[in-house]
Amino acid sequence: MERTDLKEKFMLDPAVHFLNHGSFGACPKEVLAAFHDWAERSERQPVLFYMRQFQDLMKTARAALARFVGTETDRLVYIPNATHGVNLIARSIPLSRGDEVLMTDHEYGACENVWALRCAETGAELRKAAVPVPYRSGGELRDRILESVGARTRVIFLSHISSPTALTFPVAEIARFARSRGIILAVDGAHAPGQLELDLDDLGADFYTGNCHKWMCAPKGSAFLAVAPEWVNRVEPNVISWGTGPNLENTIGNRLIDGNEWLGTQGPFPALSVPAAIDFLERNDWRAVRAGCRELLTRGLNEVNRLFGFEPVYPDERAYVQLGTAELPAHWRAAELNAYLYDRFAVEIPIIRWNGRNFVRISIQGYNQDEDIDALIAGLKSYGEMNAMK
Ligand SMILES: Cc1ncc(COP(=O)(O)O)c(C=O)c1O
Repeated sequence: MERTDLKEKFMLDPAVHFLNHGSFGACPKEVLAAFHDWAERSERQPVLFYMRQFQDLMKTARAALARFVGTETDRLVYIPNATHGVNLIARSIPLSRGDEVLMTDHEYGACENVWALRCAETGAELRKAAVPVPYRSGGELRDRILESVGARTRVIFLSHISSPTALTFPVAEIARFARSRGIILAVDGAHAPGQLELDLDDLGADFYTGNCHKWMCAPKGSAFLAVAPEWVNRVEPNVISWGTGPNLENTIGNRLIDGNEWLGTQGPFPALSVPAAIDFLERNDWRAVRAGCRELLTRGLNEVNRLFGFEPVYPDERAYVQLGTAELPAHWRAAELNAYLYDRFAVEIPIIRWNGRNFVRISIQGYNQDEDIDALIAGLKSYGEMNAMK
């Protein structure tokens, strides 16, 4: 399928060069139509929908997602977003004084907050492994993490694909190591489902939270938490409802699902639309689409690197799929550049300040085209020239 045909399947404003799928995703028209259908169906007979059909509908939606990410229907639950997932994980792992939670210096700020507060509350210590970029191999990423593991490390918390830098961490290798040492591995897969082919059971993390509303193109508010079998009945819910406590209703004896699927009345429509999103990806041969995205992303990263003379962040193009970063001059003002690109070039793209350096984070989804990269390069060139004249 031509990229122009794919673009028409999305709602995106044609006047904008949308190179920031990574922040909130974008939902195709037909998937959004499924979302509206669910909402309308619920309004025709709300009691029938919520009291008699909800549980079965959710189970069907869980089954479709479980197949897609390679786990079992009853080891995964829908949640609103990955932030929610990280909160669930941090609440469920018993921590005490002297324990250490290890993460990298590439984690998403809100999720780092979750662990910082959980550590403050329990007396555990938060430790960060520095993982420098550019890097030369996946082995280097692994080594930087493993050499920071100590005798007190109880949890490793790791992004599958990092937010500020778009590094893909070797989760399977870290999982094998963690298991051999009795360390709990919790993965923030906010950007992974839809970009990476996942087989969560094979990956072997204790906890894995992922978003469907980013790279799977599902409606916003669709995400999941998947856990290893030994954690299914040890997940502490963020909200107490009918699935937890003395007044139980409609429970199935699975704490992960009982405690998280029904959290009081709210529209389950994003989750129920995930099968439509999976169907959309499959019908449009997303494996091929992703390969095309990687090609266009490679062109963008190479051109930015050539423009400003920085080394590529990645060892080669197998290190990313649809999300990638390239370095920019450190003295530039990120917020100013972001506004400049949008106001003058209609380019929507994040400029990320990380460890005192600047990076442009390029997202390429099926709807992006060469002209989006052309506009980005023109905008960066123009900003660079303006800065040189100052
Ligand atoms: C690595 C990472 N984790 C977590 C999140 C939070 O996702 P959400 O806003 O869907 O909770 C993001 C958002 O961009 C992210 O990049």
